[in-house]
Amino acid sequence: MSKEQRINFSSKLAVVAAAAGSAVGLGNIWRFPYELGQYGGAAFLIIYVLFVVLLGMPIMLSEFIIGRMGQSDTVGSFRKLAPGGKWWIIGIMGVITSFLILGFYSVVAGWTMEYIYQAIANQFVSKDTATLTQVFVDFSTDTFRPIIWLIVFIIISAGIIMLGVKDGIEKSTKFLMPLLVIIIIALGIRAVTLPGGSEGLRFLFQPDFSKITSGVVLSAMGQAFFSLSLGMGCMITYGSYISKKNHLSHTVVEVTMMDTLIAVLAAVAIFPAVFSLGINPGFGPELVFITLPNVFAQMPGGYIWSILFFILLCVAALTSVISLMEVIVAYLVEEIKLKRMTATILVTIIILILGVLASLSIGVWKEVKIFNMGFFDLFDSITSKIFMPLGGLLISVFTGWVLSKKSIREELSTHGKFPTRYYNAFIFLVRYITPICISLVLLNQLGLGKWLGLS
Ligand code: TRP
Repeated sequence: MSKEQRINFSSKLAVVAAAAGSAVGLGNIWRFPYELGQYGGAAFLIIYVLFVVLLGMPIMLSEFIIGRMGQSDTVGSFRKLAPGGKWWIIGIMGVITSFLILGFYSVVAGWTMEYIYQAIANQFVSKDTATLTQVFVDFSTDTFRPIIWLIVFIIISAGIIMLGVKDGIEKSTKFLMPLLVIIIIALGIRAVTLPGGSEGLRFLFQPDFSKITSGVVLSAMGQAFFSLSLGMGCMITYGSYISKKNHLSHTVVEVTMMDTLIAVLAAVAIFPAVFSLGINPGFGPELVFITLPNVFAQMPGGYIWSILFFILLCVAALTSVISLMEVIVAYLVEEIKLKRMTATILVTIIILILGVLASLSIGVWKEVKIFNMGFFDLFDSITSKIFMPLGGLLISVFTGWVLSKKSIREELSTHGKFPTRYYNAFIFLVRYITPICISLVLLNQLGLGKWLGLS
């Protein structure tokens, strides 16, 4: 055990707020609703929830266990728990994945700031879909504007990271997460009471299983990973800050429920409005940035709602970006022995470089391709299609087959303090179900799915 006591989140609420802050992000509010729209509404939702339970919860619990047992950053935790082995490479993979996710995620996060600005300047009013599309395309392909917002966003995140775990992460998420829940519930109520909104609710809650193909099933699984921040050591790092007084499995249930609830609430806020205004639900990634301003422009009180909505999106992105940065900063501080300040500055500079590459790849550098993709798509694809599933697979194998069953039981029960009724189910899931499910996703994404007749 280390000589000095590791910094812990100071309360149960702080733990849940920080972990939920990481999980709830652009993945819930921007990506989930449009995937739902494209993949058939309620049927996709049911399959998604199934994966969250079967795959998301066991991996999140595994990550918390590894982090709290290891009492270290993601690389250090594997080193401590499996000395002499090569498992720490999972941690290095996580650090690289963090950089790459941040490279494109913070660009989109920057866009949310531009849209807060546009909302405040009342830019959406009396514009039709075609005009709003043009506005979005002109902005996102511009050379300087998105980069300026990217810089603003990253500097705010870096400021919070520099303040550290207690004053930065804990204080900000404890304040920002409840704010987010309030705004999204208000938006949901507004949307549901729009004329014709019930059509949208029917779309969300009446399953049409004919739309489900194996490709849709596998997308739902990928979304579960991304949305819960799993597979790259984010929850290992946060797990290491959870005090021994917390009941890990309760935390997992709370965070997962909150993440799923916010994704569903986002959909409830979006689809009734989409249907009420006769917009195509299968719109795609532009849904938030093009369709919603259109919705707000035509909705009573739309000025205020649009401002609230984009603030919500930005706040959600902020708490996720903080968690991604913390993975790298904790690694640099604990393994490379940099000062927290130096580590944060270094990470900020690298993210800015990656972010600029990603942002330019949508505009002036459209022609620059690596593996047939621009930087933005490249960062997005290799993380969600290769690194995260592979990380999740290895994390569940590590927990199920490398850690001793006795030590897992000790950790879950905090030396007998808490009951562990679900313990056998958990071991079964991480040993068999989770690795098999993830292997199927990987096979599918490597293109072997077609060959095996899966899609
Ligand atoms: N889960 C966040 C979202 O839904 C994004 C995120 C934060 C993330 N940390 C992560 C995704 C770690 C994968 C891994 O927007």
